[in-house]
Amino acid sequence: MNITMIGAGYVGLVSGVCFADFGFDVTCVDTNASKIAALNAGRMPIYEPGLAEIVAKNVKTGRLTFTSDLARAVKAADAIFVAVGTPTRRGDGHADLSYVHAVAREIAPLIDSYKVVIIKSTVPVGTGDAVHDIIAKTTPLALFSVVSNPEFLREGAAIDDFKRPDRVVIGANDDRAREVMARLYRPLTLNQAPMHYTDRRTSELIKYAANAFLATKITFINEMADLCERTGANVQELARGIGFDNRIGAKFLHAGPGYGGSCFPKDTLALIKTAQDFGAPTRIVETVAAVNDQRKRAMGRKVVTACGGSVRDKTIAILGLTFKPNTDDMRDAPSIAIIQSLQDMGAAIRVFDPVGMDSAREVLVDVTYAADPYACLAGADAMVLVTEWDMLRGLDLNRVKAALKEPVVVDLRNVYRPEEMKRVGLHYVSIGR
Ligand code: UDX
Ligand code: UDX
Repeated sequence: MNITMIGAGYVGLVSGVCFADFGFDVTCVDTNASKIAALNAGRMPIYEPGLAEIVAKNVKTGRLTFTSDLARAVKAADAIFVAVGTPTRRGDGHADLSYVHAVAREIAPLIDSYKVVIIKSTVPVGTGDAVHDIIAKTTPLALFSVVSNPEFLREGAAIDDFKRPDRVVIGANDDRAREVMARLYRPLTLNQAPMHYTDRRTSELIKYAANAFLATKITFINEMADLCERTGANVQELARGIGFDNRIGAKFLHAGPGYGGSCFPKDTLALIKTAQDFGAPTRIVETVAAVNDQRKRAMGRKVVTACGGSVRDKTIAILGLTFKPNTDDMRDAPSIAIIQSLQDMGAAIRVFDPVGMDSAREVLVDVTYAADPYACLAGADAMVLVTEWDMLRGLDLNRVKAALKEPVVVDLRNVYRPEEMKRVGLHYVSIGR
């Protein structure tokens, strides 16, 4: 079977190359010509561990190609995946479906034999029906099915998450489409990945429910962290203590500065809007989104307190900018809100990130970029660890103390241990401990 993947972003590129790795012929299409040119030159437009190697391997076999020519790619395809961006729409929080609808209108006249149109982008309930209507109205005689197949890829672990998923969710309303999907994912079922077949609308909602639940779990442990700080308890030990209960599970109980990324903030907002539109408001998720937003700003105040009550005319060194380690993605990274709040309070900011500095330059203003962690700390009044990159987990604490002007460390990911910080003579503030 020939696959066309429309949208070569974090989702489309990883999904496309993994299908090619399964042995399918895959054409990745993207309107962004420079992205396609980079991919054809073997340069990756995103940072994802292992991506460059698996792309090069499959380009070499001829199974994986990149183009901006949508028409040719669609005509040759049996399965057409839609993995274009569904960002938060300016101002009202709804998912912006203009790219998805645009693609539906573009592919409709090109369907001259049975095709399965598979929506991998995260889309509100009912989008599959809308895409079906757009295609049916544009090309009444077209033979096609529209399927929902949401992704559960974590950035930084996306290839592994694709190849060893906890489950594959297929929202299909007819048997012929289900048969095609079974063939596409057969390589996964061979290693026992459970295939969950349901209808299209349930599948669309599963994606939002999963991300909203994960965002809720993170926000819950973040609120427990605040309570731990007031009661003298330890949130890491609290997390372990509740995580032994397999109804709760140990994962996603790391307290931090609040969740960021291109998914949780966008998907919680979109679910809130959908729920309001359908008259079943999700008040828990509304609260999660509000608490998370406040938390990022509260982290700025935590730094101010650690610095003795003011950061005016002080230099603050920020270590880690991306929304999580092993990615270059700055979308909704907590560092953005934290830096903004510190600048509003008169601080000068110096930053270091192992991978995200180029992406950061597009979103940060008035910050100084340092070449390495210790250069970032030199002469600063405080160190703030925001993203728990591996290379930031083992800093030489004597060098940290010697570099800093004031021995203040704010660790927003609980990477270090209070007793080791005390021994070195650093004033150490962390989360929930
Ligand atoms: C995004 C969301 O983050 C994810 O939740 C959703 O499931 C899919 O869309 P991502 O890959 O991160 O995933 O999106 P993005 O990085 O914005 O990539 C989308 C790609 O589609 C971009 O490369 C963009 O150039 C391309 N695109 C967009 C098209 O090819 N055609 C369009 O009409 C619009
Ligand atoms: C998430 C979902 O995990 C994935 O299934 C979905 O397809 C896309 O969205 P991603 O956003 O890439 O993946 O990263 P993830 O590892 O889930 O982290 C999201 C945010 O939560 C990050 O800002 C991270 O720092 C934060 N987080 C995560 C915590 O603060 N604590 C945790 O315990 C886990």
